[in-house]
Amino acid sequence: MKRTERAEALSYTLSLANEYVREHAPLSDRSKRPSFHLTPEIGWMNDPNGFCSFGGKYHLFWQYNPFEAKWNSMYWGHAATVDFVKWEYLPVALAPDKPYDWGYGCFSGSARAENGNLYVMYTGVDEDAVQQQCLAYSRDGVHFEKYERNPVIPSSKLPEIYPIKEFRDPFLFRRGDRYYALVGTKTELCGNILLYRSKDMKRWKFVGALFGGEEGGLNKGVYECPTMFEADGKDVLMYSAQFLPSDGKRFVNIHSSVYLVGKLDLASGKFNVDYMGETDGGFDFYAPQTIAAADGRVIMTAWMQMWDRDYVTAPDGYVGSMILPRELSLKNGQLYQRPVREIELYRKNERRVSDFVLDDEENEISALSGTRKEISFGIDTGTAERVGIRAFVGEGCALSIYYDRKKGTVTLDRGGCGKLIRGAFPETDFAARSVHVAPDGNGVLSFRLFLDCTGAELYVNDGAAVMAANVCPDRGAEGVSFFAEGGSARFCNVVGYEIEVK
Ligand code: FRU
Repeated sequence: MKRTERAEALSYTLSLANEYVREHAPLSDRSKRPSFHLTPEIGWMNDPNGFCSFGGKYHLFWQYNPFEAKWNSMYWGHAATVDFVKWEYLPVALAPDKPYDWGYGCFSGSARAENGNLYVMYTGVDEDAVQQQCLAYSRDGVHFEKYERNPVIPSSKLPEIYPIKEFRDPFLFRRGDRYYALVGTKTELCGNILLYRSKDMKRWKFVGALFGGEEGGLNKGVYECPTMFEADGKDVLMYSAQFLPSDGKRFVNIHSSVYLVGKLDLASGKFNVDYMGETDGGFDFYAPQTIAAADGRVIMTAWMQMWDRDYVTAPDGYVGSMILPRELSLKNGQLYQRPVREIELYRKNERRVSDFVLDDEENEISALSGTRKEISFGIDTGTAERVGIRAFVGEGCALSIYYDRKKGTVTLDRGGCGKLIRGAFPETDFAARSVHVAPDGNGVLSFRLFLDCTGAELYVNDGAAVMAANVCPDRGAEGVSFFAEGGSARFCNVVGYEIEVK
């Protein structure tokens, strides 16, 4: 097989990638970057991969192009943490250096600790864009060896109705003495996920497809990056659906992250769905992965970015970040998400504000200003038509977040927040996203907002809805204000912290 000119130029070796990062990362100015959201040392980051626990640490890998702040042939970046907030960068883990992956690279996948080794399963994508599932393993959790008989699920084990160029992102798991892999794909009509089974992670048998093939309408996209965890006796399956049509209220992004609560039948591969939800109602959330922490919590991370958008941080030498990891649980059969509790260890300079009422007015609170913050508050929605908070406030700049009484929604509007982030596809709305939520029996909504320089994550009603969004505010836009329009509302339990992770 002939390597492309580019492959020759880059040599596609791990050592070259690591050398490049070592030399160039120290030159990158981190002062304007997110502080408690993981970003790549330099270059391009997309999907989280291989989120796992190994050797007393939590490891996270990601889709990585260290050489440029744009997508190209994929490596696996690597970092580890003990608290999900502060990360230690580790050497690049995988490079596209074998015939089955040296074209488009080492695509997304997952990890499993087994017999003292760390196994990763990923999609090797060759020069013809053929996608096959591969295995690599490590004794120390840092240096990986690719299995000599890769690919372990070759394209020949893909039933013919699925295209060999759309077969990716294996999620490896174990039930009893069997290993299983969920792999994303599509047909002409619709995305799907396939189940494979193995005794040893090396030889795999096709079991079946999870869905009938017409779910989500004729969306024509792959169900990318499947992942699954168990809660309350149910299986919670997550995947990222390319081009999923909106149902009018949800799935407004061009590509959407879906969760299904139900049950996977391991014998047939069928997934019986009780409920389908949108994992995050904001702009920038894709390809989540979860792990079970040592204390039993299910923790999720995800790419805090979206395909086919403008990547406004590229001039600063990097693109992509991960969300602040979230603790997941089910309540009344639906997903609840809370910011990982360890973030509270990094709070500084607490500022509490006495309860106050606003009547058709706006009030800037200078004690809360800043761009690396946690701000939480309740709103007794009173008679106001629209009531909420503005952050990143400067001359003609603000990110607005508000409850709209008539619509019954909480809206995050980044339209007036500095440079508007647009995209390659004509999305219905580049400025605002809304989630449907209701105040509690006393008319109160609760909010927890995290600001981190170029992004915001908003938790509503104790994690009933979450919205992640990147922003590109004006320099020096640091103000925070509260507002009520068309009536009055009461703000309670307003508290802010600075959050800085060094
Ligand atoms: C999802 C995805 C995956 C693929 C990877 C390539 O964001 O398209 O399906 O493995 O990115 O970088």
